[in-house]
Amino acid sequence: MPDDGGLRTKPDTGFDPEVAEVALAGLRATVKTLPARLFYDEAGCRLFDAITGLAEYYPTRTEMALLPTVAADISEVLPAGAALVEYGASDEAKASFLLDAGEFAAYVPIDVARPALDRLRVRMEVTWPGLLVAPVVADFLQPIVLPACIGERERLGFFPGSTIGNLDPAQVERFLGEVRITLGRQARFLVGVDLRKSRDVLLPAYDDAAGVTAAFNRNLLVRLNREADADFIVGNFRHEARWNDAEGRIEMHLVSTRAQDVRLAGDIIRFGPGESIHTENSYKFTIAGFSTLAAIAGWGLARSWTDPAGLFSVVLLEQASG
Ligand code: AVI
Repeated sequence: MPDDGGLRTKPDTGFDPEVAEVALAGLRATVKTLPARLFYDEAGCRLFDAITGLAEYYPTRTEMALLPTVAADISEVLPAGAALVEYGASDEAKASFLLDAGEFAAYVPIDVARPALDRLRVRMEVTWPGLLVAPVVADFLQPIVLPACIGERERLGFFPGSTIGNLDPAQVERFLGEVRITLGRQARFLVGVDLRKSRDVLLPAYDDAAGVTAAFNRNLLVRLNREADADFIVGNFRHEARWNDAEGRIEMHLVSTRAQDVRLAGDIIRFGPGESIHTENSYKFTIAGFSTLAAIAGWGLARSWTDPAGLFSVVLLEQASG
């Protein structure tokens, strides 16, 4: 599951002061924004799962199709007994390709959602009885301490799903730098990266015909009605996906269809007709551009795997100085 910065750890009940505070900060600004991590309440997680199966949403199936080859190639260079450290791992679906192909001794899934990690550990006790599974409950954008039980084993970091594209370039730099420190010398880092491509492919991926992505985007407002004491009329906001060519990113917006006032946590938020709330960025990279970003954080490009249509890459980074 993508990072939710800790806001998915509580059950979806009523008012949540943390949610109200981040929403107010974003909506009081001149250019209104809401953090993408607010997407992932229970309904949002279900909608995101549905997105990953849509015909228009190519990233998940393209990455899944690449992973068996990636896993086989990596197993040839990685020594037996290494530890696989997965960032944002709410399930083991993608890691399983690597675990199947290689001779890993340990698996460290990192995620903010303890219940998902508990379920994962129970499943893996059955499916991987000999593997040391050591989950870490943490927001991976914060510094991570790896469990001592994995010792000095060689480490392969893994960050699939192109979630890296939901961070802005400064966050990517910081994140890659932190991962380098966490994994230590000689580690490698395998990252799923969505590639720049025609807007004719990109826009439908973020504005599908069945309206699942629109429901995912609008669910933010449903969440704020429940958890930030807001009174959004959800039908008064339309979903819009925009390609920002200068920034190289898809943007998701919720556009107010009229002038309206919305109450939120005791405050009034005023919307003009056509005014948008910017809810998500999804950066698309070239391999060269991604390598340049990674190099700033001390990583060198070791290898990359791309599907024949050039939609998506899995990139292997290694310590540049290491
Ligand atoms: C989680 N992340 C990689 C997705 C993406 O493609 O940026 C989130 C998403 N937003 C709309 N559709 C999917």
